[in-house]
Amino acid sequence: MHPKLPTLPEELRSIIRRFYSNPIKVDKNQEHHDLRKTSLTESETVVLAQLAYQTSPAGSLEIGLALAASCISIAAVRKHLELANEHVALDPFQETLSGSVGLLEIEREGLKKYVRWVPERSEDYLPGARARGETYDFVFIDGGHGIGQVVADAFLSDRVLNAGGVIVFHDGLLFSTLAAIKYLVQECEYVPINLPSDSTIKSMLRRGKYLVKLGPWYAAHVVPKMHGSLVALRKPLSN
Ligand SMILES: C[S@@+](CC[C@H](N)C(=O)[O-])C[C@H]1O[C@@H](n2cnc3c(N)ncnc32)[C@H](O)[C@@H]1O
Repeated sequence: MHPKLPTLPEELRSIIRRFYSNPIKVDKNQEHHDLRKTSLTESETVVLAQLAYQTSPAGSLEIGLALAASCISIAAVRKHLELANEHVALDPFQETLSGSVGLLEIEREGLKKYVRWVPERSEDYLPGARARGETYDFVFIDGGHGIGQVVADAFLSDRVLNAGGVIVFHDGLLFSTLAAIKYLVQECEYVPINLPSDSTIKSMLRRGKYLVKLGPWYAAHVVPKMHGSLVALRKPLSN
């Protein structure tokens, strides 16, 4: 049994509040990107930061930098806890499709030295990371959302995650994420972490709706533990 998620220190909470106070982010070409379209909600970002804060990871990695909502929260935790390594953020399309908007936001928050952006696809970077002996205690998966991509991300992330480490998924109600989570829970003995529920009625309605779409196993074992569309899993200490 793991303890309830810790409350975030006010310094971290205020960084997230400030980041969300203006949801429109401007890229290097003066084009506008709306946080509400593809990024985590503010409340999901707070829970992601709480998970990172609780884990206090020696190594952390995320797949899918985009507007950097997730990256800023994890990097801010690293800074606050004075953790030694940089947070690794993979995204091959940051400069092209996103106009470097995430990198600009990281710089605006004064977090540049806490982040190492890698412009590579997760499926290319992670096998090399494993071969180099890179390991992580905290991985956030929010890259491509096709079934092959999310399952590959889960499979390859597992190979660089230390025992007892945490993997967090965004978009937990997609079939692709379900497939990845089923792999980690049913074949690798990961355990879903109970995240704070949004509201009891909301979570019960969601559970009913997804009972049919995603099947009874997921509705019973995973959906009740989600926060928004976040799912967090802990790797067993040994398997
Ligand atoms: C939903 S967005 C991520 C949102 C981000 N976490 C945030 O908080 O703003 C998905 C991102 O994944 C990136 N992506 C897509 N395929 C990828 C891959 N194979 N490896 C790494 N990143 C990928 C896309 O370029 C896109 O920026």
